[in-house]
Amino acid sequence: SHIAITELLKGTVAVDSQVTVKGWIRTRRDSKAGISFLAVHDGSCFDPIQAVVPNSLNNYEEVTRLTASCSVSVTGTLVKSEGQGQSFEIQASSVEVLGWVENPDTYPMAAKRHSIEYLREHAHLRPRTNVIGAVTRVRNCLAQAIHRFYHERGYVWVSTPIVTASDCEGAGEMFRVSTLDLNNLPRTDKGDIDFKEDFFGKEAFLTVSGQLNGETYACAMSKIYTFGPTFRAENSNTSRHLAEFWMVEPEVAFADLNDIAKLAEDMLKYVFKAVLTERPDDMAFFAERIEPTAVTRLQDFVEKDFAQVDYTDAVTILQNCGKQFEFAVEWGVDLQSEHERYLAEEHFKAPVVIKNYPRDIKAFYMRQNEDGKTVAAMDVVAPGIGEIIGGSQREERLDVLDQRLEEMGLNKEDYWWYRDLRRYGTVPHAGFGLGFERLVAYVTGMGNVRDVIAFPRTKGTAAF
Ligand code: 4AD
Ligand code: MG
Repeated sequence: SHIAITELLKGTVAVDSQVTVKGWIRTRRDSKAGISFLAVHDGSCFDPIQAVVPNSLNNYEEVTRLTASCSVSVTGTLVKSEGQGQSFEIQASSVEVLGWVENPDTYPMAAKRHSIEYLREHAHLRPRTNVIGAVTRVRNCLAQAIHRFYHERGYVWVSTPIVTASDCEGAGEMFRVSTLDLNNLPRTDKGDIDFKEDFFGKEAFLTVSGQLNGETYACAMSKIYTFGPTFRAENSNTSRHLAEFWMVEPEVAFADLNDIAKLAEDMLKYVFKAVLTERPDDMAFFAERIEPTAVTRLQDFVEKDFAQVDYTDAVTILQNCGKQFEFAVEWGVDLQSEHERYLAEEHFKAPVVIKNYPRDIKAFYMRQNEDGKTVAAMDVVAPGIGEIIGGSQREERLDVLDQRLEEMGLNKEDYWWYRDLRRYGTVPHAGFGLGFERLVAYVTGMGNVRDVIAFPRTKGTAAF
């Protein structure tokens, strides 16, 4: 049996133990004195472990032909390292080559620095790099911390459907689900593909949000959350949008906008802390190579309160700040990424919760405020990335909801089950959606959400 390299580097295994590690070569260096130094990684932590291989091994010649990404099993004695940078190393008594790299000169991940765009084109090999390895561990740490956060607070994890008939956000960005036999496409009289036959005779789509289904469970279980994939037919080519992304959506009965603003802040602080304590190796790398403030800003934000501002006041701040924006700001328009980033990065210098948006730019389900002009909506905006959370208190009053559906030209009958929640024991409730890739991009400082999900799906990217 073998042991994960992270266990050895932690220092919990006694020095002088016999150990076996299995992994891939990162680098190899041979000394004139007849010793080969192998850096072996296995993905369990940022650092590789060094294996010191003496030329007394009978396959030493083979060892000196190892190149990056060859797979090996190394057995030997764990010793304290005298070399700089590593705490422990293995004095190898055997090196078994499990897999060679054919033609190392043309191996796409040959050990040099590659551009992030190049790595995207090699999505199947990029997890072998330092940077994507670190992203993958941090992403996992964040996901585990999110589940822990909700579990500790008594929330029930509900898996909402991926195939749905409702367009939660009403933005018309849904992908259609098809059961078409490609060899035998149903046609209309005009010869067009008859999409009406889609999902066993019903129209169906990939969900843009689990919220509406989440509400049905919150109105029975009190506190729930979803954590799953969502889809948007985003036609935009930006560093913040994916066609397939993961969302975390808590939904809370007997809660209002301020309750969930607090929940969002508590959750973000909790997961920031988790990353700082559980992945210091990866975070040190991000601070060194990707974003100098990666660690310090998280430390900073777990300490201080997030800023809170009303949409109306945010508009005034933006209008009076003297900065020239590409899109002019006036009351009633949706804030653009440049505005959000100005507020977070330059004005408040902290994550900001923006509350009470004009109702005309928001979805049908948001609760109307007394002023008749705004809804109890919030966005959480982070420095360096912009909006990472969108949420609201939901309209729990049937008459107000119906009026809103009508104003927006939505069909009451389509929402019969959603309206039932308001007919049978309605309660105030609220929730939000956290864009998981935006969170990972923010924490790591990676500039593009395509580099924090294993296989990004966007317009124009290869899918495999
Ligand atoms: O603001 P959004 O559209 O809100 C909702 O979908 C609500 N139904 C959520 C709720 O209240 N339960 O999306 C929520 C978050 C955004 O703040 C953003 O972080 C992320 O989802 N997001 C995307 N992330 C990556 N790619 C995209 N195309 C995204 N669209 C939204
Ligand atoms: Mg939003």
